Parts: sequence; structure tokens; C-alpha cells
Amino acid sequence: MFSVSVSANSLLTAALSLLLTRLSSSGPPAPDVPHIAAYFGTKTRYEDVNPHLLRDWTSVNASVLKPPADERCSPVHLTAVIRHGSRYPTGKNIRRIQRLSELVRREAAGGPAYWQQEIRSRWDMWFTEDMDGQLVMKGREDLRHLAGRLSRLFPDLLSDQNLRTRRIRLRTSSKHRCVSSVEAFQEGLWLGEGDDEVEFSHEVDDELMRFFERCRGYVEGVEKNRTALMEVEKFKHGEEMDGVRRRMAEKLGLPHHRLTPDLVEAAFFLCSYELSIKSLHSPWCFLFDENDAKVLEYQSDLKQYWKRSHGHVISSLSSCPLFHHVFRTLDKAGRPRRSTEAPPEPAAILLGHAETLLPLLSLLGLYKDQTPPTANNYHSQHGRSFRTSLIVPYAANLLFVLYDCQRGPRLQLLINESPVRFPGLEAEDAPLYRDVRATYRHLLDGCDFHRECEGRTAARGPNIEL
Ligand SMILES: *[C@@H]1O[C@H](CO)[C@@H](O)[C@H](O)[C@H]1NC(C)=O
Ligand SMILES: *[C@@H]1O[C@H](CO)[C@@H](O)[C@H](O)[C@H]1NC(C)=O
Repeated sequence: MFSVSVSANSLLTAALSLLLTRLSSSGPPAPDVPHIAAYFGTKTRYEDVNPHLLRDWTSVNASVLKPPADERCSPVHLTAVIRHGSRYPTGKNIRRIQRLSELVRREAAGGPAYWQQEIRSRWDMWFTEDMDGQLVMKGREDLRHLAGRLSRLFPDLLSDQNLRTRRIRLRTSSKHRCVSSVEAFQEGLWLGEGDDEVEFSHEVDDELMRFFERCRGYVEGVEKNRTALMEVEKFKHGEEMDGVRRRMAEKLGLPHHRLTPDLVEAAFFLCSYELSIKSLHSPWCFLFDENDAKVLEYQSDLKQYWKRSHGHVISSLSSCPLFHHVFRTLDKAGRPRRSTEAPPEPAAILLGHAETLLPLLSLLGLYKDQTPPTANNYHSQHGRSFRTSLIVPYAANLLFVLYDCQRGPRLQLLINESPVRFPGLEAEDAPLYRDVRATYRHLLDGCDFHRECEGRTAARGPNIEL
């Protein structure tokens, strides 16, 4: 039986971080969680994907590591692609929340008094535009906690010692929320003594972590292309969303036409933000029942699917640089070496966005359902695997775990700390690394960023101004 031994170091890490949370959260006990908390798409808390963490964030399930029991494997390298933690809304969403709150204050009348009273008496607009997408305290905690758990799962790789000696490479997107996240991750690994300050040692690398904005084929073909997100637009004005809108308007006593689909979404997001930022059960949550939340989740999924995932091939191809980077790192770590050579790099930490993770997951062939989600097939999509609430919550993470085994190196994928099998290699949790390479041969040999991203526009001829 393969087992993970927990070193004294990592126990200390856990104890220390426990102490830190005790100090930082001496507030009221955990609040009740809104019944719709697991449907917030990319605004879902990590704990609502892994609810056991609500009881004990230090809990680590060592049996998620599943190399064959009879091959005496041990993890030799970890590459982790991680999304930033909980954050404030961006400017655009703050302005929408502002409009919603003004509308409700000015015009809501005549609906069931309960809702108006709840919102009017219990809620004040507290978001300001300067918050613009920054990481919140809870977001720092998301990353510190994740680091604490991963260091217990991989005590020999993510050790304080390896961090101090700079053997762990950390790269991040330049966005403030990601830089803050990569710092928090290091705090989670660092075993301070007294007031020993954490020495951060990350690099900013947008070419790697924000490849999407550098891929012209993607920017022109999807990002700036009005028809690329047609399914989202149709769904927004379709029957299901209209029902949600009507019910919300009735509860608030607003004329139906005053409540746009964007304002409905703003209320839903408000519920999510108050939970993820302040651990509050916001009065705005009561405007939605579980079926409404499923409809709104579907709208977010449609957007991510058509903008960042399988909806357009160029979205996944834009992540070719990151894909190649990950496999180059794994190649190096798995290469046979003499006992006199330096041991492989223990871990590589890559901090980015949902927009970083979704294209890469899609390129790997994950979460690709038989039937694409569209505006018209909501009712046949309940069993879909593409649910962003489960895939890319705050602090979402994709782990590539490389093992040294008797028959050669093996690779396992974990998503949000749960095992996931490689498409096409479903027989094993941790197939031989050479079989994984064979499965992705076409991408390892191709997937050229410049050809994929510039090719399309070049093919239109030199006379077209872009
Ligand atoms: C631990 O992980 C294994 C493998 O994914 C799973 O089957 C099991 O239910 C998990 N145990 C707990 C207590 O979550
Ligand atoms: C815009 O998106 C549509 C729908 O996906 C696609 O057919 C079209 O080719 C795209 N336009 C450009 C300029 O790439």
C-alpha cells in the first residue's frame, strides 16, 4: 500500500498555519451557507467544491495519490497550475451592482414587503471602484491553506527547506491578485521562526500565464468577435433566464422590464461576493431558489465554454506555450539520472487565472461532453461534465504529479485535489509517463503558438487592416 508520510516539518507548517487562522478568524462561528453557494461558476468558493474543508481546512486525503501499489512509487516532482484566490469584483461588476442597488432603492415597491425590508434595512452598498479585482483577505487564506495541505501531501517536494533554497520555481501572472496569491502560497510553506520574514522568490511571466491576450487569432476570432458568444446572448434573452428575471422582479416589486438580465446576474454575484469576501449570508441570496441558480450557472458555463474552452479550438490552442512548458518541466524531472547528479526540481508553481486554466484543461481534452452546451439544450445538459463551479472556483488547481516507479516514471492529474484520468488513458490513475506523451504526441510535436495564433490572420492576406 502506498502511503504518504507526514514529516515533522509539514506538521509544523500545519500547526503554524492553524495558529495563524485562529488568530485571524477569532470572529463569529461559521455562518450558514446559502443554499445556492455551489452554483456560482468562477465565483464559487473552493470550500463549496470540497465541503469537508469547511469543517477542517487542514484535512488531507492521502489516498488521492494513486500510483500502482506494487511498483514502489514515490513522487519526485509536482507542477501545479493554480488560480488566484477570492477577490473583489472587477470595476465592471461593481458598476452593475451600483446600478442594481440604486434601482432597488428608487423603484422597488409593492412587492412582498419582506424582500424590500431585508435588503433596504440590512444592506448597504459597500463596494467601491478602487477594489477592482484585488485579492481579499480570504483569498490570501485560500492560497496559504492550499499550500499547507499540498505540503502535507508532498512533504519531500513542497518543503520549507526546498522553498528557502529556491529549489521550487514560482511563476505568476502580473495581475495584482495573482502576485498576492503567489506570495500567500509561499507564506503557507514558510516555517517562520519568531518574526522571520518570508523571502518571496517568484517571477512574473505573462507570456506563460496570460498567453490568451497575446494570441491574435484568439483575440480577433473570439474575444472581439460579437458572434463568437452568440449562444450566451441567446440564452440571456431566452425562456429560462426570463423566468428567473420575472420571479426576481416580483419579489422586489419591480416592473419586469426594468430588470435587465445583467442586473439579475449582478444580484446573483452579490450573493456570491458577500459569501466569498465576508462569509456573509447576503439578503440578496433569497431572491433565488436552487433552480434559478442552476439557470444562472448555466449562463456562466455557456460563456466560459464558448469563450475559453471547447467552443472555439483557438481558445485551447492559445495555451500551447503553457502546455509545452509543463511537459518540458516534466521531461526534465523524469529524465534518468546518475546518483551523482543533482536531484530533479521538486516543484513548479504557476499562478494564473480561470482564463489560464480553462484553455489548458481543454487542450488536454478534459470536460469535453458529447453535446456542446447551447442556448437551446439547457434541459438535456444537467449531467454535463463542463461545470465551471466545480472546475474553476477560486484557488482552483491542476496538479501534475510525477512518480518514480519500478517500470519508469508515471504521471497523475489532480484537479482541485481530486484524481482525474487522462482522456484516452482511462484504465489507470497514474499511467506511465511515456504513454501520456504518446497520447499527446500530436500536441508535443505541434501546437505551435505562432502558427496557430498568427496563422489565421495571415491567411486572410496582407491587405486586410486589423
Ligand atoms: C479520499 O480519496 C479517495 C480517492 O479519491 C476517495 O475515494 C475517498 O472517498 C476520499 N476520502 C475522503 C474521506 O474524502
Ligand atoms: C466569429 O465567430 C463565429 C462563430 O464562432 C465564426 O464563425 C467566425 O468565423 C468568427 N469571425 C472571425 C473574424 O474570426
